[in-house]
Amino acid sequence: MIEPLIDPGIWKNRFTLGEWNTHASVRTSDHHYKLPTDIEKQLESQDWFPPALLPYLSHPEISSADPAITKRLCANHLVNFLHYTTLLEHRIVNRSVEVIIHDELEFTIPRRMKTAALQLYTDEGYHALFSNQLAEQVIDFYGMTDRPTTHRRITRLNHLIDRTPDKQRALTWFLIGFVSETIIAKDLREVCQNTLVSSVQEMLSDHLADEARHSRYFSEVFHYLWFQMSDEVRLSSARQLLEILFIFFESDKKWLERSLRSVQLSKTAVQQILITMADPQHHIFRTRSGASSTLQALKRADCFKQPEIRQMFSNRRLLDE
Ligand SMILES: [Fe+2]
Ligand SMILES: [Fe+2]
Repeated sequence: MIEPLIDPGIWKNRFTLGEWNTHASVRTSDHHYKLPTDIEKQLESQDWFPPALLPYLSHPEISSADPAITKRLCANHLVNFLHYTTLLEHRIVNRSVEVIIHDELEFTIPRRMKTAALQLYTDEGYHALFSNQLAEQVIDFYGMTDRPTTHRRITRLNHLIDRTPDKQRALTWFLIGFVSETIIAKDLREVCQNTLVSSVQEMLSDHLADEARHSRYFSEVFHYLWFQMSDEVRLSSARQLLEILFIFFESDKKWLERSLRSVQLSKTAVQQILITMADPQHHIFRTRSGASSTLQALKRADCFKQPEIRQMFSNRRLLDE
């Protein structure tokens, strides 16, 4: 075990989820996450997912088609997003939280950091539950037969873990959790709008309220661990952080193609959309803007004071020179 190098007093009052018992959705929310009885009526003016966040909807073949096509593509996106969330919470974030709880890292973990990790684990279990519940209802509503498959990001993150030597795996799990938990709040904040179907909006706002606490917690834990890492471990962690960041903002080409084909879009339109989504410049832009909270947490932990690390991030255009 590596003991903290500095007076642990400076970490006082950190590593908690605040008043978890009286604030966490799983403890306090009275939402039931069921589709409203007036769903047909709501769909005349409300969306399943904000269309403005799906740039491919502005393709002329979609924007000039019956609005029901846009509605259906938004429903497809919501189901994919919820299915991805369920897997992410259980298989990725909670695996990352386990390494904190069960002393898998080679750093001393304060007791309150473990308690908060156990609370966070509970939150994520609840998020997986309500995401799955809502996804199943939307699937039933449309009679969707194309069952969701594993999101490309989950597969890519698992491959990264498989390629990591055994003794570094716990830290890699932690880094994946840190990236995931610092990007999700911004992601949910953008999605959670009052133009959505009421139960989708309630579910997203419950999730967002929890994730704001999680993001702060993971940033503090990251800072605490980074402080204790050797320069060599910092360098290898920075390399992995870059890889993880770009994985989180890749688009899932296969899924998108299936979704577009489900509304009988022409082959040409599908190809045009897929080419735009795969553009490397768009990928960099999505990563830089979507990961702004992660990049800020790295800055706060003084990660970029190490010139090689600063260089690495500016070479990949996540930082200005
Ligand atoms: Fe969550
Ligand atoms: Fe979370």
